[in-house]
Amino acid sequence: MPQAKAAILRRTNTPMTIETIDVGPVAPGDVLVRIKAASLCHTDLEAIEGAVSIDLPAVLGHEAAGEIAEVGSEVSDLAVGDRVVLSWNPHCGSCFYCERAQPILCRRFLANGPKGFHFDGRPRLSCDAVPVHQLMYLGGFAEYCVVPAQAAIRVPDGMPFDRAALIGCGVMTGVGAATRIAGLRWGDVAMVIGCGAVGLSAVQGCVLAGAGSVIAVDPNPARRQLAQAIGATHACGPEEAAELGKSLTDGRGADTAIEAAGRPETFRLSAEAVRPGGQIVWLGKVAVNDDVAFRWGSLMQEKRIVRSSYGGAKPAQDFPMLAQAYLDGKLKLDEMISARIPLEAINEGFAALKRGETVRSVVMFV
Ligand SMILES: NC(=O)c1ccc[n+]([C@@H]2O[C@H](COP(=O)([O-])OP(=O)(O)OC[C@H]3O[C@@H](n4cnc5c(N)ncnc54)[C@H](O)[C@@H]3O)[C@@H](O)[C@H]2O)c1
Ligand SMILES: [Zn+2]
Ligand SMILES: [Zn+2]
Repeated sequence: MPQAKAAILRRTNTPMTIETIDVGPVAPGDVLVRIKAASLCHTDLEAIEGAVSIDLPAVLGHEAAGEIAEVGSEVSDLAVGDRVVLSWNPHCGSCFYCERAQPILCRRFLANGPKGFHFDGRPRLSCDAVPVHQLMYLGGFAEYCVVPAQAAIRVPDGMPFDRAALIGCGVMTGVGAATRIAGLRWGDVAMVIGCGAVGLSAVQGCVLAGAGSVIAVDPNPARRQLAQAIGATHACGPEEAAELGKSLTDGRGADTAIEAAGRPETFRLSAEAVRPGGQIVWLGKVAVNDDVAFRWGSLMQEKRIVRSSYGGAKPAQDFPMLAQAYLDGKLKLDEMISARIPLEAINEGFAALKRGETVRSVVMFV
């Protein structure tokens, strides 16, 4: 069983500590992954701040890529040395929701998630013989992690690890929201509200899906610039967004609005900015017990609202396609990496994410 350097969250709202953990056992259906890169997502920050429930101590990190270091005795489709991106939605395949092709609602996935252990209820990590939990069955902020084999998705060997990591959450969620959830039609006017990694990926998803115009909305001018550099046709601050959408659509409003900022005012804006009969996709989140109020009139006229987790991800299909799209120059990921940092700098990395200074910092393991 290898030992690994890991960032451990012991109490919410305190810095993570860098410690040595014991990794394993690797059960028959597991794989051991040597993590090469793991990026800092807003959802990790929510776990640090206690807004996402997970038992502690825990290793966070759910946007990660690495190399298979060992396979469990029942794993036949992965081999040592394979380059993989981790998916945070392992699912049982046979419950009510899995049977209905909604793996993100898998009963066992949701029941076990907050406990931070695997489906068998057992830990795979420990520190001084005390079990350590894994955020979203992963725990990418460590040199090694043990994950269910279905959570490790092979990508082409040429895919750089740092950019591969981004695919595992933010890119999949944003691109998937546009390509799998929004039902965009060729020529549509799409609006993306919030241009962090998730929103910038949604912008690219809209372009890939054939949108005619993509309006990127963010109060931060640097984010707006970035959005335009990777494919948005228009960009503005939140105050101008609804009007800009109308000006491009003969007064109707955007055909689709994808919300990727996670604030009451951005959920409201999505409803105000979409046309009658249009499609609203919510990706962001506020704390689960918070209320969000809407002007009722903004919700009327056959608008459709979906709140999507993971952008309808089908990781086994989507991750290799997204990696290939990057390698073919069709998906821009270089622009989303603001900093490459050592594990020791992880707390400062999260502080910078909270201050809105970075799109993605990526922890590099060498
Ligand atoms: N649905 C999912 O599966 C999923 C997955 C990952 C993240 N998320 C959520 O998506 C959201 C975005 O994640 P991220 O990692 O890109 O976060 P981020 O913090 O990097 O980006 C948020 C962006 O929103 C912008 N913003 C702030 N106020 C705004 C306003 N009033 N109008 C428009 N934009 C505004 C910020 O300037 C920033 O660019 C978070 O709420 C996160 O929890 C959801
Ligand atoms: Zn299931
Ligand atoms: Zn995430």
